[in-house]
Amino acid sequence: MSETAKFILNGETYEFPVTEGSENEKGIDISKLRAQSGYVTLDPGYKNTGATESGITFLDGEKGILSYRGYSIEELAEKSTFLEVAYLLIEGELPNKTQLEEFNENIRKHTLVAEDMRKFYQAFPHHAHPMGVLGSLVNSLSSFYPESQDPNRGEDAVDLTIYRLIAKIPTLAAWSHKNAQRHPVVYPKNELNYSENFLQMMFSVPSEDYKIDPVVAKALDLLFILHADHEQNCSASTVRIVGSSQANLYTSISAGISALWGPLHGGANQAVIEMLEDIKNDGGDVTKYLDKAKDKNDPFRLMGFGHRVYKNFDPRARIIKKACDDVLDALGIDDPVLDIAKKLETAALEDPYFVDRKLYPNVDFYSGIIYRAIGIPTEMFTVMFAIGRLPGWIAQWKEMIETKQPIGRPRQIYTGANARNYVELSKR
Ligand code: CMC
Repeated sequence: MSETAKFILNGETYEFPVTEGSENEKGIDISKLRAQSGYVTLDPGYKNTGATESGITFLDGEKGILSYRGYSIEELAEKSTFLEVAYLLIEGELPNKTQLEEFNENIRKHTLVAEDMRKFYQAFPHHAHPMGVLGSLVNSLSSFYPESQDPNRGEDAVDLTIYRLIAKIPTLAAWSHKNAQRHPVVYPKNELNYSENFLQMMFSVPSEDYKIDPVVAKALDLLFILHADHEQNCSASTVRIVGSSQANLYTSISAGISALWGPLHGGANQAVIEMLEDIKNDGGDVTKYLDKAKDKNDPFRLMGFGHRVYKNFDPRARIIKKACDDVLDALGIDDPVLDIAKKLETAALEDPYFVDRKLYPNVDFYSGIIYRAIGIPTEMFTVMFAIGRLPGWIAQWKEMIETKQPIGRPRQIYTGANARNYVELSKR
């Protein structure tokens, strides 16, 4: 017999079905609660609300498990490439050789952006944050491809938008960096792989022969894989909710970029490095900063620590910490900020405040140190996260559209003024 949940309210009993996921996660389906009882549930920040059923990413925060379409993040990080993972997330299965070649080819075909878009860059001030530039430009892609504006135009049209997005985002991102430097943009070279192409657009200059370091290209690909999806996080939920109004995919992704920018979400990777540098410049006393983070009268939080779902460890952080050591070793870089990060981590993990609240380093704690080592400027860190997260956002959007989910529209409990009469301006 299938499980049900009983809810007693003012002596009346209501019964709701229990939905069980493939990893035995259980949820009480309260979608008929209001119709039956007149009550809604209240859950600020959706801390205990499942917004959807989804077959893309599984996350067990207590056990520190993360998998995409059933494949563990550890195995994907070790054996796959970013574009293979992108295909897996979007299509649901690992590609065979032919499918991967076709996918690659479809993306290579679209790496250029319309020349007219270059003019947009010139209109941004050089100090514009690259996340703001990226969000605006991704949104503006919808005006270059008006046929994308109907998300139900058919599989081929949606696929084309997906290829364009994955192909163009590294070009748009690298050009926002070039724009910040007021340097000429570098065009994509389609004989290179995805990460290599991004690196050459970021770092080559007309007067030098830029050589791509395979250690750097591999590290970047790994970081993209680790960021590729993370189920119903703030930006993925934003993409779904914007897309649920039938807004087009470019616009929905642009909204996801905006949500990611905040320092409590993807913007944490920039905030972590800034925090570690502050600690270093302030004499390297990690205890002082731990005390600040624990002080409820101080708004300071330990950036790169804590997670809404992980209450044990973040498996991505483990992989990144190891990669960080490897990359710095391979490049022969001795970054004093890494020592501060390690000291801070050790001290926090022994501190009852962090232990009691199950606050562990998250994916953003060490990623910035790798980005720095490979020459990515701090302001671009969250842009790197956005490039990696794109396939996840696309997969979440596609699933939402294909399963015909209704428009996202939460309820509220109104706490404002009761009905009152309008007072003429002269009498106020
Ligand atoms: N430093 C100090 N205290 C913290 C921290 C932190 N980084 N994170 C949480 N806490 C405390 C918080 O004050 C609260 O304490 P109390 O119970 O005494 O009021 C308790 O831990 C629970 O925190 P919360 O804010 O209710 O937890 P949340 O699930 O709403 O927030 C979070 C999760 C990630 C926003 C938060 O841990 C945080 O602000 N971390 C720092 C920013 C960060 O690193 N963000 C990146 C997240 S991972 C990448 C991504 O997915 O985007």
